[in-house]
Amino acid sequence: MSTFDAAKFKATTRNQWDSAAGAWHRWGPTLSAWLGPATEVMFDLAGVATGSRVLDVAAGAGEQTLAAARRVGSNGSVVATDISAAILEHCARDASIAGLTNVETLAVDGEDLSTFPNSSFDAVISRVGLIYFPDRHRALRGMLRVLRSGGRVGAIVYSTPENNGFFSVPVSIIRRHAGLAPPEPGMPGPFSLGSPGVLEKALSVAGFTEIVIRKVDAPLLLPTAADCLRFEQESFGALHQMLSGLDAAGKKAAWDEIAEALGNFQTAAGFEGPCELLVAAGTKPV
Ligand SMILES: C[S@@+](CC[C@H](N)C(=O)[O-])C[C@H]1O[C@@H](n2cnc3c(N)ncnc32)[C@H](O)[C@@H]1O
Repeated sequence: MSTFDAAKFKATTRNQWDSAAGAWHRWGPTLSAWLGPATEVMFDLAGVATGSRVLDVAAGAGEQTLAAARRVGSNGSVVATDISAAILEHCARDASIAGLTNVETLAVDGEDLSTFPNSSFDAVISRVGLIYFPDRHRALRGMLRVLRSGGRVGAIVYSTPENNGFFSVPVSIIRRHAGLAPPEPGMPGPFSLGSPGVLEKALSVAGFTEIVIRKVDAPLLLPTAADCLRFEQESFGALHQMLSGLDAAGKKAAWDEIAEALGNFQTAAGFEGPCELLVAAGTKPV
C-alpha cells in the first residue's frame, strides 16, 4: 500500500518553493535562455495571441508569465497562479517594473481552480509545474472547466531521465544518499509525465482533444559545471524537498558527488547539460 501523503507533500512543496523563490527569480535570465524557445512553442500550440485571456498555473517567479503578457498585449491578460505566495511576489514586482498592467497574481493550488468561473480563459499554460502535482487529473479537469470551448491548454514537462542528465543525475544521487525508493507510477516528480504516451493519455482522459506533443531539445548551457551546480543547489525546490531528510553532512556528501558527476557534461565550449522537454497542447471540445 502506498504511504504517499498528498497534503503533506504539497505543504512541503509550498515551503520549499517559498524558500527557493528568490533564487528561482535571480536565475530568471538563465531560465529565459534555457526554456525560452520551448515556451514560444507552448504559446503557439496553446493559441496564445493578441487579446488572449491566459491562466498560468504554477507560474513561479513569472518569467513565462511576462512573456505571455507581452504576447497578448494590452487587450489581453494573464493571471499567474502558484501554490507559493512568496514566488508570485517576484512575478508581480517584475510585471509592475516592466509596466505590464495586464498581469494579475493569485496564490492558489493548481489542483483547485474553483476560484475561477467556467469558460473564463482562452488558454491555460503551465511550464514545468504539472509534474509536481499529486493529482494531475484534478488539475487538468479544472483547466478544462475554466477554458472556453475551443480554448487550448499548453504544458511543458521533462521527458525521460535518460534524456535529462542535467537533472536526473542529481536526482538519482540524492535518492541514493537519502535512501529514497524510486517513485511509484503516478507519483509526482520531475519525470512523472515524461515517458512515451503518459502526458497524452492524461490530457485525453481529462477530456482534451486535438492533442499535440512535441519534443524540444533544450540543453542547459552555462559557462561551467560549477554554475549548473549553483543553479540547482540554490533554486531547485524539488531537490531540496528530496534532501530534507538528510543532516548537513549528508547533504554535503550528496552535493559533492553531484558536483563531480555534473563535471562530465563540461565541454571545451562550456557546460552542456542534456535536457529534452515535451511541449503538449490540447483543446477543450466545443
Ligand atoms: C520548477 S518551478 C516552475 C515555475 C515557472 N513555471 C517557470 O517555469 O519558471 C515549479 C513551480 O510549481 C509550483 N507548484 C508546485 N506544486 C504546485 C501546486 N500544487 N499548485 C500550484 N503550483 C505548484 C511551485 O511552487 C513552483 O513555483
